[in-house]
Amino acid sequence: MERTEAIALKNITKTFGSIVANKNVSLHVFHHEILSILGENGSGKTTLMNMISGIYHPDEGEIFIDGQPASIQSPRDAYRYKIGMIHQHFKLIDVFSATENIVLGMEEGIYDLKAAEKKIRATCKKYGFEIDPTKKIYQMSVSEKQTVEIVKALYRGADILILDEPTAVLTPQEIRKLFDVMRRMRDDGKAIIIITHKLNEVLEISDRVSVLRKGEYIGTINTAEANAGILTEMMVGKKVSLNIERSEPKDLQKRLTLTNVTVLAPDGRAILRNVNFTANAGEILGIAGISGSGQKELLEAIAGLQHLKSGSILYSNPETGREENLRNKTPMQIRNLGVRLSFVPEDRLGMGLVGSMGIADNMMLRSYRKGGFFLLRRKEPRDLAKRIIEELQIVTPGPQTPVRRLSGGNVQKVLVGREISSSPTVLMAAYPVRGLDINSSYLIYNLLMKQKENGVAVIFVGEDLDVLTELCDRILVISGGVVTGIVDGRDVTKEELGLLMTKAHHREEEAQ
Ligand SMILES: Nc1ncnc2c1ncn2[C@@H]1O[C@H](COP(=O)(O)OP(=O)(O)OP(=O)(O)O)[C@@H](O)[C@H]1O
Ligand SMILES: [Mg+2]
Repeated sequence: MERTEAIALKNITKTFGSIVANKNVSLHVFHHEILSILGENGSGKTTLMNMISGIYHPDEGEIFIDGQPASIQSPRDAYRYKIGMIHQHFKLIDVFSATENIVLGMEEGIYDLKAAEKKIRATCKKYGFEIDPTKKIYQMSVSEKQTVEIVKALYRGADILILDEPTAVLTPQEIRKLFDVMRRMRDDGKAIIIITHKLNEVLEISDRVSVLRKGEYIGTINTAEANAGILTEMMVGKKVSLNIERSEPKDLQKRLTLTNVTVLAPDGRAILRNVNFTANAGEILGIAGISGSGQKELLEAIAGLQHLKSGSILYSNPETGREENLRNKTPMQIRNLGVRLSFVPEDRLGMGLVGSMGIADNMMLRSYRKGGFFLLRRKEPRDLAKRIIEELQIVTPGPQTPVRRLSGGNVQKVLVGREISSSPTVLMAAYPVRGLDINSSYLIYNLLMKQKENGVAVIFVGEDLDVLTELCDRILVISGGVVTGIVDGRDVTKEELGLLMTKAHHREEEAQ
């Protein structure tokens, strides 16, 4: 099939003060293809895409759309060139419906919402989207919101679609659906650019891969000729070992003991049912499960963010030798009991990073959803910030640079780094590598390992079964709010985990 060129970037350079975000980048995207843009955190991917979608303007270089030089001064201009971008953070208005969001700001004057709705339904049908155009955004799941963004782009006639880390926030099932839709759009002639850090996704969905490194264009290869090793080397510039060195646990000490923990949803359904387990100091306890099986509520229950219907959570304090029951205590009360708990929650929005402040100042803050705002008493936030910047290879001019100027993945690293380095006795991390490049992900895994070796009780919620079985000493599997097994991470196979992850549902059916 003859492919016509949709976008050509020629020698694009973009700087922010002293930071060179993109340097002399040239690349091509064709209709009828899915191009993956790959690069480490801070390598300039989002910045480059923001120039195509009219948010930033290149300092130097040219953009050609369908072979013609284009002057894209604003997102509205971008739509004139049939370019639509789905951002790392959605830009929807919560109290409006899908339809209202889609037509909002598009034409002047009064909108014919009924006609719009009809057109939206037709678009959904054509590509296989499942959304209700009348539903309000605040009632929607992340995946639905993302769908609204994509439909919005298509509704406005986008022929070129840019998706910036769309899979970071989706479950495996939702990713499969998104990929189906993307393939359908490609077959319809659209040019699609996707950014993702997950190499298996790059290999699965794209036709070609273009790699950036430190703002520079490194090259493009056909996905059929790529593999994880080749791509990582292109990205990092050298061979990197993607290995987790699992150490043998020693000096295991009981740290947390959950007994018959039951948590109810607002509708009275049990989200956690009679959960029993122990988390030991000196080991990594993995938590595996299909997303939404109760992992989130489990960690929240320990952190004091869920009401327990019944059961107990005992903390064995290594300093006092006392056992404290954390049941239905607030995060503040839990802290005051001397529990040194660090928590990287799944939903990181409420975690109290202040964008206008530097990494150093952010080291002193912490807040949890519902949990109020904490000031951590830190003596040397600046030194700590410097250490985290170094250990996690955070791309920033320095510890005082406002966090909002960092790339998405580097913001994540600040959050995760702050929690990991606050000398906890219990460290709970839910999907800590989301949004992180492959190299940084392994830095985090190895930091978790170090914490375990230092006698921390580490609880790690993960979705990648390979990582779970390589990293964890024991793996607790949860399904439908029920613990279906606690297995040895060294022995268990991925198949066995998979079976346990779907098991409770059968049991429930049998019981009925
Ligand atoms: N508005 C801004 N002001 C200052 N610096 C910025 C701004 N936007 C981006 N940068 C810097 O430009 C560089 C590239 O950032 P960009 O967001 O493009 O990276 P990225 O490849 O998308 O990374 P990630 O994978 O973490 O999302 C980073 O060093 C970032 O800190
Ligand atoms: Mg980015």
